Amino acid sequence: YRNLRVAVLGAGSVGSQVADQLLTHGPELSSRIGAGLELVGVAVRDLDALRDTAIPRELLTTDAESLVVGADVVIELMGGLEPARTLILKALNAGADVITANKALLATHGPELFDAAAQVGAQLYYEAAVGGAIPIIRPLRDSLAGDRVTRILGIVNGTTNFILDRMDTVGESLEEALATATELGYAEADPTADIEGYDAAQKAAILASLAFHTRVPLESVHREGITSISHEQVVAARKAGYVVKLLAICDRVDGENGGVSARVHPALVPVDHPLAAVHGANNAVFVEAEAAGPLMFYGAGAGGIQTASAVLGDVVSAARRHVVGGPGVAESQHANLPVLPISAVTTRY
Ligand code: NDP
Ligand code: HSE
Repeated sequence: YRNLRVAVLGAGSVGSQVADQLLTHGPELSSRIGAGLELVGVAVRDLDALRDTAIPRELLTTDAESLVVGADVVIELMGGLEPARTLILKALNAGADVITANKALLATHGPELFDAAAQVGAQLYYEAAVGGAIPIIRPLRDSLAGDRVTRILGIVNGTTNFILDRMDTVGESLEEALATATELGYAEADPTADIEGYDAAQKAAILASLAFHTRVPLESVHREGITSISHEQVVAARKAGYVVKLLAICDRVDGENGGVSARVHPALVPVDHPLAAVHGANNAVFVEAEAAGPLMFYGAGAGGIQTASAVLGDVVSAARRHVVGGPGVAESQHANLPVLPISAVTTRY
């Protein structure tokens, strides 16, 4: 086994879970990859902060710059534009593949980062940047690449969905529900990004760019948040047979004056629409494609451990790229894989 050196930048809601999972499930992941995964360090701002994590103290460092040099895979989970941007560029130029969940950075500096990766033959993975645990980036980038996506519509911010849901179901105020969302690790470091719709707009820009094979600048996404939504409006909407949801809607507009439109705003969703049943911090994204027809992606849209799932999927993809002679693909067709016992046959759903 060759050991791949993995560096994590950030040990907050997501970073601490990613590091813990690497430490706990490293050997199992290694067998899927054909190489060892060695967590070489975790960059933080404050070495003495109290952390609910199994990361050994000696792996923590405040020197992110040195950490990214010499790593095979760098996982950026600190958030914000800088120093995240500079560290990612440094990691790519030093030959690492990079994984990020940072939609703010991708929606603002994506083209620069993807160009930098292409120039050195490295990869930049970002499955966790949209939809938390939901696989949505790979389906759009790979599975639907041969189709023609016409529309993306859905709930892409877990915090605002959590808040609107609590306003509707238990009568909490926006402030009370936001405090809980922050405690649960759903909200951004500056939750204005969530409640004013910036986070959803960043995700809309990323999804629309991928789906329509174009560059959708963040500034061209129409954005309204949920701060003007009152409890009374949520109650009145419910009485009239609707729930209030913050939606991201991206359309391909054909024809002479065609192009792409992307918008984020609160909307009244009929109570019998599937989006009305998206509760808590879950997300749901509908994709319409000409040949495939309508598709629906649903699951946990925020949360440390849930988002860690998407990040670790990217770790496996990145690591497989580095391994010559390893499994390389995800097929369970290798002769040396153990056969797990089939525990029971049941007709229960
Ligand atoms: P947190 O704010 O919880 O954690 C950020 C971490 O980064 C902290 O450990 C912090 O250190 C560290 N950090 C920040 N700035 C620096 C710096 N300059 N140098 C070194 N370390 C630094 O963020 P989250 O874990 O919630 O989010 C991380 C990223 O993932 C963001 O881009 C976010 O948008 C994205 N994301 C988050 C999801 C979620 O549910 N939380 C879901 C999907 C994506 P210290 O602890 O010392 O302060
Ligand atoms: N703050 C974000 C949200 C995290 O609530 O959706 C997931 O991207």
